[in-house]
Amino acid sequence: MERRPFIAGNWKMHLTLAEAVQLAQAVAPTCAACPDRDIMIAPSFTSLAAVCAAVKGSGLQVGAQNIAWDREGAYTGEISSPMLKDLGVSLAIIGHSERRHIFGEDNAMINRRLHGALDGDIRPILCIGETLADREAGKTFAVLDTQVREGLQAVNSAQMECVVLAYEPVWAIGTGKTASKEQAQEVHAFLRQLLAAMYEKTVAETVRILYGGSVKPDNIDDLMAQPDIDGALVGGAALKAESFDRIARFR
Ligand code: G3P
Repeated sequence: MERRPFIAGNWKMHLTLAEAVQLAQAVAPTCAACPDRDIMIAPSFTSLAAVCAAVKGSGLQVGAQNIAWDREGAYTGEISSPMLKDLGVSLAIIGHSERRHIFGEDNAMINRRLHGALDGDIRPILCIGETLADREAGKTFAVLDTQVREGLQAVNSAQMECVVLAYEPVWAIGTGKTASKEQAQEVHAFLRQLLAAMYEKTVAETVRILYGGSVKPDNIDDLMAQPDIDGALVGGAALKAESFDRIARFR
């Protein structure tokens, strides 16, 4: 089954407002050159409004780096789906390993956030991934199984049309150690089988599964050649227009 490729840049806690707008404007023309794929950037919350305005009409999609589960209320420091929709944000990264490991977000909270996104018409990108210790202990698939099942708790097949998965092995994030294309493909195939067990086969065949972790211009082509890798969630290399452009133009 054909799945539309999806290249996403996660800018994390980088760039001032002016820098973010400049980078977004430099990246936007890539969309017109690559009409067969989805391209997204996720700036920090402070730059979202200006970046959305700057790329309007270019086809470049703008995502948030997290999202609250409620629409409004006493949640200091949180940003909700109506606030994001208001700006033109259409997607949100949820459960990134930095949220899990630095800020203590667990699968239950991540699941609440995911429902908050779906209820608010924001497409969630659910991140999952094992640590080095998990991998060395032979627990990779068990950890991923739990993250997917608990992260997608009470999400139905129809809602799955909006969900994107991102496999980001924690040991490959920002370390320069990319999972080999074989390691990544093995996990992506496992995730697709897991989705087939949880939902219908058509859901498993249509959900896009991105790879993240030291994706660079020189490894994107090999990764994208794998049958179950549908795109990339890019950190460091998304902060330079030339490298993100090259990644988005994978062959
Ligand atoms: O969300 C993207 C990410 O965590 C990967 O970061 O710098 O290894 O590409 P990086």
